[in-house]
Amino acid sequence: MSAKTPTASLTVLTDLVLPGETNFLENLFGGELLARMDRACSIAARRHSRRIVVTASVNHVAFNKAVPVGSVVTIEAKVSRAFKSSMEIYADVWIEDRQSGERTKVNEGIYTFVAVDETGKPVPIPQITPESDLEKERYEGALRRKQLSLILAGRLNPKEATELKALFI
Ligand SMILES: CC(C)(COP(=O)(O)OP(=O)(O)OC[C@H]1O[C@@H](n2cnc3c(N)ncnc32)[C@H](O)[C@@H]1OP(=O)(O)O)[C@@H](O)C(=O)NCCC(=O)NCCS
Repeated sequence: MSAKTPTASLTVLTDLVLPGETNFLENLFGGELLARMDRACSIAARRHSRRIVVTASVNHVAFNKAVPVGSVVTIEAKVSRAFKSSMEIYADVWIEDRQSGERTKVNEGIYTFVAVDETGKPVPIPQITPESDLEKERYEGALRRKQLSLILAGRLNPKEATELKALFI
């Protein structure tokens, strides 16, 4: 399997925030945004692996700015690193000013998807070669985040988290 680039998985989802999707402050409901991000990341993971993919974990979501009703929301999802069967996908969330069109980044999320066969068994996926500085930075940090995610899920003994430990030595 030859390596791919993050750009090959780029998925852009643009949609409106409608009144039924907001909280009492008339801002986008967090769960609605998570679902949209999950969809975008799922498509990016599928584009990278060309397999069935499932969400394994949501490693980090920062709701930095509220997204008011009526906003045009764009989610850009890209695979940042591929491991054996799992992929880390970054979802960057933007809104745009109605008049100027200027974009503001409001949120980001980091998802892990696993490529599986028809029986749900993990399968190997192509590796990834980052190109831009941001892609390289995200690629470098991905193993640390994977180890942290596995520790939190009770799937890795902290003593075996070599990458994480290296941060504190
Ligand atoms: C995710 C899933 C496929 C993992 O299957 P598994 O039989 O436990 O397989 P493994 O332990 O070999 O893990 C497979 C890969 O997932 C990774 N993984 C599993 N759980 C993870 C987690 N919480 N965080 C990060 N990576 C995780 C493993 O590190 C491994 O990665 P690698 O192959 O790239 O090294 C399985 O747990 C599953 O099907 N979960 C339900 C998925 C689902 O329904 N999602 C929708 C939520 S409603």
